[in-house]
Parts: sequence; C-alpha cells; structure tokens
Amino acid sequence: MTIIRKVDQVYPDPVIIRQAADTIKKGGTVVFPTETVYGLGADATADSSVLNIYKAKGRPADNPLIVHFSSIDMMREYVHVSGDIEAIAGRIWPGPVTIIFQSTAKISVVARASLPTVGSRIPANPVALALIAGAGVPIAAPSANLSTRPSIVNSAEAIAELDGKVDMILDAGETFFGIESTVLKWSEKGYEILRPGAIGVEDLEPILGKIIVSEAARAASSVDKPLTPGMKYRHYSPGKTLYRIEDREAFIAYVEGKRRSDMAVICSDEVAAILGIECISVGSERNLYEVARNLFPSFRKLDASAYKNGIIHGFPESGIGLAIMNRIRKASVSLL
Ligand code: TXA
Ligand code: MG
Repeated sequence: MTIIRKVDQVYPDPVIIRQAADTIKKGGTVVFPTETVYGLGADATADSSVLNIYKAKGRPADNPLIVHFSSIDMMREYVHVSGDIEAIAGRIWPGPVTIIFQSTAKISVVARASLPTVGSRIPANPVALALIAGAGVPIAAPSANLSTRPSIVNSAEAIAELDGKVDMILDAGETFFGIESTVLKWSEKGYEILRPGAIGVEDLEPILGKIIVSEAARAASSVDKPLTPGMKYRHYSPGKTLYRIEDREAFIAYVEGKRRSDMAVICSDEVAAILGIECISVGSERNLYEVARNLFPSFRKLDASAYKNGIIHGFPESGIGLAIMNRIRKASVSLL
C-alpha cells in the first residue's frame, strides 16, 4: 500500500517528514518533490533499498541513479568532491546541477550501476532537504516516472503513475523548473555537459569556465557512443508517436497544409495564435522557463487526448532551451 501525504513545499510538516524519513531508513521508497522534477527515492547506501527503485520504475539496471545530499558536509562523507567544486559549492548548491564524482564504497554499487563514479547533487527544495537530513543518509533518486515515460512534474501525475508501486508519495503540488538537473563531468578539456538541464550553459560558464556541449548532449545527431548510460534508452516519451519539425516556419506551413485531423498540435501560444486552431499549449515562447514547465505535461496531455499522434516545433537552444530541445529530440521523430 502507498501512503500519500500532502505536504507544504516551503514549510513541510516535521511529522510527515519524519514518517517519510523513517520509510527511507527502513529500506522503503518515497516519491518526493525536488526543484526540478519529482524523484523516486531510497537509501543510497543499501543495495536492497536501491533495487526497489529499479523495480518500481522498470529501469534498466545499467543506468545509474543520481544521489541527493542535504549538505556539502554530507556529500564529502560519501563521494570524493573535487577541490575546484568544493571551492564554489555554495554557488551551485542547493540547485539543479549534478556533478559526477568518484564514489566511496559507502554508496551502493546498485545505485551506481557498478560504475566507480556517482552523479551527485544537493536539491533546492525544502521538502527534499528535510527528508534527506531526516533520513541521515544520501537518497538515490531517479526522476519518478516509469521508465521511458515523461518525467513527473506534479503530484497528481505522481499519484496516477506510482500509487501502489512505492511505499510513500509526498504530495507537494508542482515542481519549480519541470525539467531535470544539468549533469556535468570534468574532463581534461573542462566541464562537459552529459545532460542539459534546468541551469543553462550561459549561467554555469561564469562559475565553472568554458563548458563543452557535444552534439550528443544536444541530442542533435544519433549517438554512437552514449555520454551517459541513460542516453542509450528511449526517454521522456509520450505513449503516442510525437513528430517534430524544428523550424518554426516549416512547422506552421506543414500544420496549415498537410496535417491530418487526427494529429495533435503542441506549440507555443504565439504559434497557436498564427494557426488559429485548437492546440496543446506549452505557454509563451518568450518565456522558455514556462515552456520547460509545460513540456512534459503536454506529452501527457497528448496521451490523454483522442488524437492519434502529435507534432511539436523547436525552440531556441539558449539557456534552458538547450534542455527543452534535448528532451523534445529524445521524445520525438523528426518529420523534415
Ligand atoms: O533533476 C534531476 O536530475 C532528477 C531529480 C529527481 O534529481 N533526477 C533525474 O534522474 O533526472 P534520472 O535517473 O532520471 O537521470 C539521471 C541521469 C541519467 O542520464 C544517468 O545516466 C546519468 O544521470 N548518470 C547518473 N550517474 C551517472 C554516472 N555516474 N556517470 C554518468 N552518468 C550518470
Ligand atoms: Mg529520468
């Protein structure tokens, strides 16, 4: 049975946090909000607990999980935090940035998918921080969606998808960014983006120096050598086929001239106004944060609709737009 508890995202009730933290300590699974998306968490130090995450999600065992800490002191106990990150930790954490560090033996090999490294972050969400601190152990948590499905950005989706599959769900409404953290790894050439996310390259470069963004990270080309184990797999996808035409003008021409009536149109408010037809809106293209928040829910709306398939256009790849385009490309098939 899944225990579902409403919790205030800013001032969480300590009694509910205690119950959730005890569930983690006993080896259970808890769905909790972060500032990016909901996570499906368990004790990152215990193989048997972490296995419950893979089981609940149906996640391939070779795709490692992100491990969440409540403070830099806690992180230091479990992973080898590099000196350069230690020096600027307060500028990136708490926040939606995941850095790959060498692990110690204290982090479960199941959470790491047997890698020597671990993706680590301190989430900027009072519920998540209180939960981790209360449990007294780092929490391994992938995005809470079932494997291949769009990430979960509000508690209604979490309950619909995970009730009966986990021990507890913390119902805290909507997450702030609605798109996952930026995953970075240090290499000889500097920090490289393994997965674009809520914090853009432009915001990270003043802190971390020049950042490498490969074609694979943009998901612009088919990937021969995946940057992260997660890249091999289908991701973020609606159940129905989603097509894309990245160029806005070409998209408008296609929808006006060739679209069949059983194809849903997912677009910005501005494009919807030009088309003058019923669309699934992702908000104003002048606010890419709004588009990011509406993106995964738009995929879910497509699935819930009577349409047979859907089509979406592209967005500028600046700031959070890089993550938006990465998710769209992974979730869709290019039509042009
Ligand atoms: O915002 C987020 O990052 C959310 C919240 C819950 O924190 N979590 C999340 O986790 O998106 P997940 O499991 O859906 O994505 C983790 C990504 C995967 O692409 C995985 O392959 C990569 O991070 N990753 C994790 N550990 C890694 C490692 N040691 N080396 C390379 N990639 C790693
Ligand atoms: Mg995920």
